Amino acid sequence: MDLFHSPSDASSPAALAASLRASLQHHAHLYYVLDAPSIPDAEYDRLFRELQALEETHPELRTADSPTQRVIGQVLDGFAAVRHAVPMLSIRTETDTTAGGAEAFDARVRRELALAETDPAMDYAAELKFDGLAINLRYECGVLVQAATRGDGESGEDVTQNIRTIGQIPLRLMGCEVPVLEVRGEVYMRRDDFEALNERQRGLIAAGAKNEKTFVNPRNAAAGAVRQLDPAIAAKRPLSFFAYGLGEVQGWAVPPTHAALLDALAAMGLPVCADRTVTQGAAGLVAFHRSMGEKRDMLPFDIDGVVYKVNDRMLQEKLGFVSREPRWAVAHKYPAQEQMTRLLDIDIQVGRTGKLTPVAKLEPVFVGGTTVSNATLHNEGEAQRKDVRVGDTVIVRRAGDVIPEVVGVVLERRPADVGEPLDLYKRLGGHCPVCASPIEREEGEADWRCSGGLYCPAQRKQALLHFASRRMMDIEGLGDKLVDQLVDAGILRTLPDLYTLGFAKLAALDRMGEKSAQNLVDAIAKSKSTTLGRFLFSLGIRHVGESTAKDLAKHFGNIDRLMDARLEELLEVNDVGPVVAQSIRHFFDQPHHREIVEQLRAAGVRWPDAQGTANDAPRPLLGKVLVLTGTLPTLGRDEAKDLIEAAGGKVSGSVSKKTNYVIAGEEAGSKLDKARELGVPVLDEAGLRNLLASEESTPNAGD
Ligand code: IVH
Repeated sequence: MDLFHSPSDASSPAALAASLRASLQHHAHLYYVLDAPSIPDAEYDRLFRELQALEETHPELRTADSPTQRVIGQVLDGFAAVRHAVPMLSIRTETDTTAGGAEAFDARVRRELALAETDPAMDYAAELKFDGLAINLRYECGVLVQAATRGDGESGEDVTQNIRTIGQIPLRLMGCEVPVLEVRGEVYMRRDDFEALNERQRGLIAAGAKNEKTFVNPRNAAAGAVRQLDPAIAAKRPLSFFAYGLGEVQGWAVPPTHAALLDALAAMGLPVCADRTVTQGAAGLVAFHRSMGEKRDMLPFDIDGVVYKVNDRMLQEKLGFVSREPRWAVAHKYPAQEQMTRLLDIDIQVGRTGKLTPVAKLEPVFVGGTTVSNATLHNEGEAQRKDVRVGDTVIVRRAGDVIPEVVGVVLERRPADVGEPLDLYKRLGGHCPVCASPIEREEGEADWRCSGGLYCPAQRKQALLHFASRRMMDIEGLGDKLVDQLVDAGILRTLPDLYTLGFAKLAALDRMGEKSAQNLVDAIAKSKSTTLGRFLFSLGIRHVGESTAKDLAKHFGNIDRLMDARLEELLEVNDVGPVVAQSIRHFFDQPHHREIVEQLRAAGVRWPDAQGTANDAPRPLLGKVLVLTGTLPTLGRDEAKDLIEAAGGKVSGSVSKKTNYVIAGEEAGSKLDKARELGVPVLDEAGLRNLLASEESTPNAGD
């Protein structure tokens, strides 16, 4: 089969439609399942529209497995019941989260199979226990005909319309046209997709949308999406899928082991999780449980444990079932990422830009691997919607590197003397809890802010930390404890005060040795020589992030021109829209901000004028695209990037035919392989330095 469709191959509309479908299926698999697209999105869209147009003129060519048929169907009144051909069972859960859980399972299996101590260790397939919801996918002659939830195990609900919208689930299996193949697996939502969805929901709610809500966790969001009656809404909820087993099978020789079965499903184009293994005996299971436990926070999705399955399917059959649970499988849990605890109080914290965040003070609780006593409530609106009140029993969630948050209240446990709903303004009497400046909230915004700006010590502390951080002025050794000390002692009132800090003043501070004091003095002195982009980023202008700061530096070349720029001039800058332009104008309209810039300059903070560089200095990398990979011996990632950009080059995150050089350091990964595959020149740090030192002599030098 030719997967790289070109219309000239097709002798008839039917052949053309088939060829387009095959090509789109192939590219959807590369994109959704393997995460490795081989054509640009625009090309995929073009093929898609070509097929759509063809089906429009020849409706008889429209098939159930056509990629154009993912989002179809009506808003339903309810879901039809589906009787499962093979019941969907659950597995026994081992709640002992220590090694004992794995050992107990292995001992049980060996006893049931009447194995002697001298018999060899069992082979087990070990995989992750995904925290989503179980789905049965029924393929007939290779085409997805039905998807159903587990329900009570005997019958579930027909959710085919919604499941079809999940790009990862193939509408047609690759190379498998057997009469019946039911694939079972878990529909779940990735953590980043979940966070983005909730962020979007918060935006909708802030803008006044009535019937919207945020979701408690990825599992609830996934379950809600699958049981959504309107398939168009379901399609907007980003879901993913992993296959882990079978239902009814007709006409297929099932592979002899569970591991081989999963390999076969993957070969048919179904997503199968790569974090799985075949291992021996209790010791192997314990090792898998431990290594996945260490990896858990880094996974892009939630798991609540691992699953062990006897690998040999004949032995599985021999072991059979007991009270609706297979004897050959077990789930071995991890400590939970959600816990209940009591809300003792609500604190209001002041952020760098003055944002006031309600923070829950909790009775300490062990969740997601640490003891949590503070959790965010995001903003007043969220706290009100969740109806969180002091005295309530709340559910706290801590998963991955996401900060702990209160996701809901257990209303059944609400005490009679519970507190009032949160009214932030009333609570604070209208004043910032740190500096007593009036608080304000702009029309259409969810957050209250302190209006004190850098007058407010809380904002000043955050602003100093921001200013000193690595990607900005890069003052090593100026951490939050020290900033607290310096601000609280009245030593640091403004950013420029940093440059008046001398050795004697620092060495006299609590917990500060002479060596650290000297190091900090040196780091502060070193930070004076910077770039305009870093300097602008470090000022903490609202909406001006690293790349906008760089664009502004490039466009205006010097800070005086930027400080005086009119709105229209700001709007000419790459990626600067009205909100950003207004925020920059607002910042520099305040005399004390200009004063800060002047004082920093007077203190000796310097940068080469960006446009000056463009005109005078050689720019040997003008028009060149470079990719960095691995660890370079002396240059940090940011440093290398700055040097390349100062020389006129661009740094890209991925290697393609357009890449001019790959700069590889130690432990370079797949980018290095890709460079070799495409024949892109690979240099080390010394090679990069040679390039940077070379004269401008490139073909693109003229532009
Ligand atoms: S196997 C007969 N494997 O956990 C065995 N289940 O009670 C059927 N789950 O609701 C289940 N990850 O949705 C299996 N790798 C995995 C799983 C898994 C998650 C869920 C499944 C079911 C529950 C088991």
